[in-house]
Amino acid sequence: MQPITFPEAWINSDKLEGILWRAKAAIQDDKHVHFEILPSTKFLIDAAVIFLSLINQLAADGKLISIDFGTEDTVVMGYLNRMGFFDHIDQRIVILPARPDFSAAQVFNKSNPTLVEIVKITPNVDDDELPGRLADVLQAKDKKLGKAAFTIFGELIDNVIGHSSSTIDGYAALQSYKDSAVVIVSDSGKGLLETLRPKLPKRYAQASDTDILVETFDKGLSRHRGKSGRGCGLTTCARKAKQFHGKLLVRLSETRVNLIPSDDKYTPDTAYCYDNLLPIRGTHISFDFIC
Ligand SMILES: Nc1ncnc2c1ncn2[C@@H]1O[C@H](COP(=O)(O)OP(=O)(O)OP(=O)(O)O)[C@@H](O)[C@H]1O
Ligand SMILES: [Mg+2]
Repeated sequence: MQPITFPEAWINSDKLEGILWRAKAAIQDDKHVHFEILPSTKFLIDAAVIFLSLINQLAADGKLISIDFGTEDTVVMGYLNRMGFFDHIDQRIVILPARPDFSAAQVFNKSNPTLVEIVKITPNVDDDELPGRLADVLQAKDKKLGKAAFTIFGELIDNVIGHSSSTIDGYAALQSYKDSAVVIVSDSGKGLLETLRPKLPKRYAQASDTDILVETFDKGLSRHRGKSGRGCGLTTCARKAKQFHGKLLVRLSETRVNLIPSDDKYTPDTAYCYDNLLPIRGTHISFDFIC
């Protein structure tokens, strides 16, 4: 069993895909998957949450997962602990040398105005609580962005609850950086195209995944087609995000589409769109707002 090593560098979602792609055979075929995260590795929030969803899926599939941080209290462990990563990982996952003694996310919960710790998406939470908390962070940077963000998060969270049928938890998190803010909503259920494609009219049979995604964000498509008013959620998100030059990243089963706002629509940035990636179940949508 070869360890899958995260280098001492910023791990954005691009880098994460590269690491997972190179380890694809081992992750799919081996019973025991061992990750090694070097002390000065730095995760961007979207990569951390997608990694969290992936390892929880692998553990649920019966694989033995271990993550070795080398020594206790490394910088990367501190960051992940602060974001609540260890609160949400499957209990069967082995953390080396040891799980942190306490959860920094619980101790410092809601005390930092530039982030929202990883939060579980469940149908029981108060409807406005989670989108409200996510939007408040952005509101502090820009009032209008805060308002738009409230709508965007509400739609994304609604979709996880309404469409994903996941048995594994979905998550949302936000981190604000110097000139940007990244938010991720990630679920491990049926992916967007899995729920949508079978319900589309025949004329979409030959359409590529990217074409369908672009049309879903641009014009609106819904698995509840025919029901008036459905299919507006993601177009509303796109319309609002465009006003803040929000780059949009959609990670589905084996595909990733990077959409950038141009004049009046989102256009795929083909340099950062990939197929044949390591399969990860569910829908993982992140926005990167300039603010
Ligand atoms: N998290 C998700 N998991 C699975 N499928 C999803 C998810 N999010 C969106 N979808 C699919 O994408 C389609 C479009 O979503 P969108 O939010 O735009 O419309 P809707 O949810 O069907 O209707 P509305 O949001 O207007 O009530 C959905 O009908 C569903 O098939
Ligand atoms: Mg919706």
